Amino acid sequence: MTRKPLIAANWKMYKTPAQAVEFLSAFLPLVAGHTRDQIAIFPSATSLESAARAAQGSNVLIGAQNMHWMDEGAFTGETSAPMLVALGCTTILIGHSERRQHFGETDEMVNLKLVQALKHNLLPVVCVGETEAEREGQHTEQVLRRQVSRAIVGIDAARAAPLVIAYEPCWAIGTGKTATPHMAAEAHLIIRGEVARILGRNFADNLCILYGGSVKPDNATALMNEPEIDGALVGGASLDAVSFSRIVKYTGL
Ligand code: PGA
Repeated sequence: MTRKPLIAANWKMYKTPAQAVEFLSAFLPLVAGHTRDQIAIFPSATSLESAARAAQGSNVLIGAQNMHWMDEGAFTGETSAPMLVALGCTTILIGHSERRQHFGETDEMVNLKLVQALKHNLLPVVCVGETEAEREGQHTEQVLRRQVSRAIVGIDAARAAPLVIAYEPCWAIGTGKTATPHMAAEAHLIIRGEVARILGRNFADNLCILYGGSVKPDNATALMNEPEIDGALVGGASLDAVSFSRIVKYTGL
């Protein structure tokens, strides 16, 4: 199975446009010519235009952390896929747990946003993951199956082809508690199994599943050496160019 890994940076609500450009001028030379993995950065909305311009012609994709599912309309404060494409975005983060927890994003909205991303050729990275209480209550499998099945409902395999899923256990995000490679692999197998049930085994075998939650330069190698883990979604450790480049080059290339 040859799944090209994706290493992605989620900058959350950090970095002004000038800071985003400063990061890229340090980061791009560090990863120039790196082709083993795909690289993506998700800056905040106000930095997208300058980040996309700074990354133009490089091996780094730029995308938003959120978008609305309609092309346009009376949706105060929202951003549409055509607007993001016009800024130079080529990828999109969908359903991050912070959006689900703090902004009421539901599985149904995640599905609508995924349909919209595919329609506009934005590489969709759909986030799923259980809370600490759900894990302790032995509900991890049920939660992951529900989030995955509802995210992809009504989308056929041909249309869903670019899909990437990020497994991010909520209890590991920003806490310094990382899932072990074995725990992540167990979750990825559940996710891959659910995708196989709905979109077929072949689709599932080719699906990139990223792990996210306190990925750092010193645990990236162990995580990425687990065959079920096809990349990483990195928050805190992606804010520094050297730190993120070390994660991108996880086996010390
Ligand atoms: P973290 O965040 O790496 O800071 O835990 C990951 C994420 O929220 O995507």
